Amino acid sequence: MIHLSKLPNIETTIFTIMSGLANKHKAINLSQGFPNFKSDQKLIDLVSKAMNSGYNQYALMPGNMELREAIAKKFDLLYGSSYHPESEITITAGATQAIYDVITAFVRADDEVIILKPAYDCYEPSIRINGGKPVSIQLEAPNYQVDWNEVAQKMSSKTKMIIINTPHNPSGTIFSEADMLKLQELTKNSNIIVLSDEVYEHIVFDGEKHQSVCLFPDLKSRSFITASFGKTFHNTGWKTGYCCAPKELMEEFQKIHQFNVFSVNHPVQKGLADYMQDPNTYLGLSEFFQAKRDLFLNLIKDSRFQFKPSQGTYFQVLDYSKITQEYDVDYAKRLTIENGLASIPLSVFNENKLDNKVLRFCFAKTDDTLKQAADILNKI
Ligand SMILES: Cc1ncc(COP(=O)(O)O)c(C=O)c1O
Repeated sequence: MIHLSKLPNIETTIFTIMSGLANKHKAINLSQGFPNFKSDQKLIDLVSKAMNSGYNQYALMPGNMELREAIAKKFDLLYGSSYHPESEITITAGATQAIYDVITAFVRADDEVIILKPAYDCYEPSIRINGGKPVSIQLEAPNYQVDWNEVAQKMSSKTKMIIINTPHNPSGTIFSEADMLKLQELTKNSNIIVLSDEVYEHIVFDGEKHQSVCLFPDLKSRSFITASFGKTFHNTGWKTGYCCAPKELMEEFQKIHQFNVFSVNHPVQKGLADYMQDPNTYLGLSEFFQAKRDLFLNLIKDSRFQFKPSQGTYFQVLDYSKITQEYDVDYAKRLTIENGLASIPLSVFNENKLDNKVLRFCFAKTDDTLKQAADILNKI
């Protein structure tokens, strides 16, 4: 029997490929976005405590109530924005599941979804599996600024959703207040849903402010925010995240969520709820990662790689066009195999695999690892 693939063009993700190659060649792995240091022992102890005190059965479908309350408090504290813990917040198995369920809840066959490239790689397959059509807008290196006129031109009566991501993986750029106001103006009086992927909301540098959709009332009324505890608390393997949206949107989301996963890891949720009672657990993150960015960039400032300092996330993109004109995927592989340093080539996130000779390096690593990586880059 012949099985026709629903996603015929989907290949193994570049993260799996590059991490596999890094392991095989014992290379320093700055490819996949995860820390190589432990998360806070206090958080690990709180999760263990939750397991030992009986939080081992299904959580409520939208998530542990104390965690939803802690998230609501955080939105109030950071953005002066209110999401009701009863009806406007759902805990998910990482941001990935939240993104999939938002798209599945709203995108029907032939609906168009605008995505900005380079784009995180789970958006497009989630749109396609639902019969939707990704409409891509390619952002130009090295600034990756959005041309909102182009967005306006690509919008049509078929546009169901626009996906944004600030701070932006892979480019490390952030949206300004002007960007958000433009998006708000463009979507006003429409039925377009905005999926705002804010997994790096707590990692914004140089005193800039994270521009969450929730700061813009009209935008908030049509938006989902997706978030990731893995990114915030250095434990991507726990795959716990959440999403928030106004009640009527969240009701539709939960119709998918309850049959996709129903509820997620309960002891982790309880541990996170207790841990988040202290806002310092997430407030110091920008400073922590800015020091790593600065260390890394200072070490490679005399190398042949060119860069603009990352404005947010824990990624730094480096332009290698002064070194070689090789296709970025080939160069990333060669750098791993011959030089012992793994990164992610940006073309895999671009429209038609556009190659700007740019690689992405994750600096969520110990200072020692960053120094070793810089030594390699400086010798090239
Ligand atoms: C932009 C972006 N969105 C979503 C995710 C997925 O987050 P999670 O691991 O919580 O599913 C990632 C992870 O790298 C990401 O970079």
